[in-house]
Amino acid sequence: MKATYLEAAVGQYLLAHTTGPDDVLEALAMETRELMGERANMQIAPDQGRFLTMIAQLIRARNAVEVGTFTGYSAICIARGLTARGKLNCFDISEEWTSVARRYWEKTGVAGRIELRIGDAAERLHDLPTFPAVDLAFIDADKENYGVYYEIIMSYLTPGGLILADNTLWHGKVAHPHEHDETTVAMRAFNDMVAADPRVTSIMLPIADGLTMIRKH
Ligand SMILES: C[S@@+](CC[C@H](N)C(=O)[O-])C[C@H]1O[C@@H](n2cnc3c(N)ncnc32)[C@H](O)[C@@H]1O
Repeated sequence: MKATYLEAAVGQYLLAHTTGPDDVLEALAMETRELMGERANMQIAPDQGRFLTMIAQLIRARNAVEVGTFTGYSAICIARGLTARGKLNCFDISEEWTSVARRYWEKTGVAGRIELRIGDAAERLHDLPTFPAVDLAFIDADKENYGVYYEIIMSYLTPGGLILADNTLWHGKVAHPHEHDETTVAMRAFNDMVAADPRVTSIMLPIADGLTMIRKH
């Protein structure tokens, strides 16, 4: 549970009234904690997972992209929301972390809908086919390159398509001008760029560590 911007009791209440993860997602979260220790915090929260599935279902997503896969939790949530023949293209630099993802994609029966490309996403995203157009993208990798990923994905995104960007409140630091570390500055620049982009409408949601939903006109 990462309801960063809610009082703890309210966060617990919210989670208790949200459809929870199934046993396989619970097992993946547990195994990620055992294997990765502190790094397990990179995994999205259960309520975000539910949100991703619902968004994919609501827009009837057919061709999705994920930048930042880690051990595969968010990819499972997106893949589960796709239409029957839907596909998800995942990008990550780590063979090691995504080997866990591959195991759990088999267990959840979504492996056939996911293609994983290993390497720097700033380069590998250009390998995406131009058809069909992307209708849903989730950006959750290195924060300094969000702007790069955003621009590449925009060129593949269909009108009406959605980009979801994670961690856009960056522990609340983006709102405090005295915070100047590299990641905060990069995230602030990304947020400013999206807010000023005439090609899109966007909304920042205080889910987990901030999730921005961006719709291309
Ligand atoms: C926050 S984690 C993703 C968490 C994942 N969405 C989940 O639900 O578990 C960030 C991931 O981005 C990947 N990453 C970092 N830099 C990258 C790059 N330049 N290209 C592709 N992936 C990158 C890391 O290997 C890591 O797995």
